[in-house]
Amino acid sequence: MISATVLLSSLISYILFHIIKLIIWVRRADKMTANIPGPPSLPIIGNALSFTKMKSSEDALKLAKCIPSTDGDKPWYRIRKIWLGPKLIIHLGDPKHIDAVLASKDAVNKDRVYKYMGLVVDGMVTKNGKEWHDLRKPLNKILTKQMIESCFTTMHQKALKLCELWESVADSGKVHNLRPELANFSADNVCGKY
Ligand SMILES: *[C@@H]1O[C@H](CO)[C@@H](O)[C@H](O)[C@H]1NC(C)=O
Repeated sequence: MISATVLLSSLISYILFHIIKLIIWVRRADKMTANIPGPPSLPIIGNALSFTKMKSSEDALKLAKCIPSTDGDKPWYRIRKIWLGPKLIIHLGDPKHIDAVLASKDAVNKDRVYKYMGLVVDGMVTKNGKEWHDLRKPLNKILTKQMIESCFTTMHQKALKLCELWESVADSGKVHNLRPELANFSADNVCGKY
C-alpha cells in the first residue's frame, strides 16, 4: 500500500515537473519572440483554433496569407511565428536570417520532426547532430557565393520555365503529378545540366 502511494506521488511529481518546465519554457520563448509578428495565440493551444477551421488546401492558403507580413504589401515575409500548441515555429524568409541559422554552431540540432521525416526519406534535410555538422563543412566549401552567383541565371531560367509549365495546368482542374518535373528541375540545378 505504501509503495503504491510512493509510486503514485512520484508519478504525479514527475508529470507536474514536466508541465511546470514546459510552462516556464513557453513563457520564456513568448517573451523572447514578442517582437516577431504572428497571428494572436491562446495559452496552451497556441494557434490551433485557426487550424480547426481549415477544411481544404484553399483554406490553408488563406490561413498562410492572413499571417501578417513585416514587409507590408510585399508578397514575401521576412520573419513570422506561429504556435502549434506549446511548440513555437518561426518561419524565415530573409536569406540573411537563413544564412545566420545555417551557419550557426548553435543550430546543429534540428527539430524532432526531421527524425520522423527520416522514416520516410533520408537525405541532407533529415540529417541531424554530428552527421549534419560534418556534412555542412564540405557543402559550405562547395556552395560559395561565387559558385551560386555563377549558376544563378540558369537556375532562374529553369525555375521560370517550371513555373510556366505549372501555371498552364494550375487552373485546369486536372490532377497533375509534380514529382517527375521537380526531380528533373532539381537534377538540372544540382548537376549543372544547362
Ligand atoms: C526528365 O528528363 C528526362 C531526361 O532528359 C526526360 O527524358 C524526361 O522526359 C523528363 N521528364 C519530365 C517530366 O520532364
